[in-house]
Amino acid sequence: MTKKVMLDVDTGVDDALGILLAVKSRQFDILGITTVNGNVSLDTATLNTCKILELLKIDDEISIIKGANKPLKRQSFFEHRIHGQDGLGGALLDMKVTKKPATGFAADVIIEKILQYPDEITLIMTGPLTNLALALEKSPEIVHKVKEVIFMGGVLKGGGNVTPTSEYNMYVDPEAAKLVLHAGIPELTLVGLDVTRLALLMKKHIQQLKDPSLASYVKKSTADYFERYYERNGVEGCALHDPLAIGVALDKKIVTTERYFVDVETRSELCDGQTVCDFQHRLEKKPNVNVCLEVDSEAFLNLFIENLNS
Ligand code: RIB
Ligand code: CA
Repeated sequence: MTKKVMLDVDTGVDDALGILLAVKSRQFDILGITTVNGNVSLDTATLNTCKILELLKIDDEISIIKGANKPLKRQSFFEHRIHGQDGLGGALLDMKVTKKPATGFAADVIIEKILQYPDEITLIMTGPLTNLALALEKSPEIVHKVKEVIFMGGVLKGGGNVTPTSEYNMYVDPEAAKLVLHAGIPELTLVGLDVTRLALLMKKHIQQLKDPSLASYVKKSTADYFERYYERNGVEGCALHDPLAIGVALDKKIVTTERYFVDVETRSELCDGQTVCDFQHRLEKKPNVNVCLEVDSEAFLNLFIENLNS
């Protein structure tokens, strides 16, 4: 029985790897892929998402629906250092794209699908949470009809990857993140840097990819990401942030989670976008998030490579 999901992406290099994993796993009935302003502009994220579905040469039509072209309240904050000007590390630049986004607006389609399939849909969010925040503002009742929301975002014990305290997706739109965290979504899972930093794609993994076009794409799209990661972290690898969120939807056993109260800073000079986890229950607030604390990195990388080779 395939799992009904919707992906929300700001396709960038790792979002693209997440889409590859989601489609190649054949374990999802992907009801749509919504795009959001984040790593790159909305239009570029949308074009990149079209390119990835075209690369996959899949028959079944997966709709791509455009969403927010900027954060709820803040200016865009692109991450071209990691993802390149094009968002895919310079890969697929000369691809002739025929796939086009569907009509409609992401927040409306998220609402429509959740109401059409109550208690069946898992949302997997791998960009800033603007589209989900807009959907919740417009139709609060979806809180009780969405099966689960899994999002790549935040960091609870380590440092940030865009400021000393904050992870990129939370930093770009902290108001959206705050709205999502406080909406009362019963099954909300945070896949933060604490675990995604351990899900490192290495060159040896790329060498295990069997499909030549896929292997060539993964190698080309991650080349600059590898370099940036080495410069910043002294590690020959690149973190599979977004693919791990997909991985959690495929197999919850690859992570260990615990429920805590988590909030996000939106009014700080230094710490905007910081996700704060009340590990000691000091605030005496009801836990609102399943926090990923550990990951079986080897199991995840095996899952990633096996599915891309399927
Ligand atoms: O912090 C990593 C996250 O920010 C990933 O989703 C990456 O694609 C960027 O959006
Ligand atoms: Ca992303």
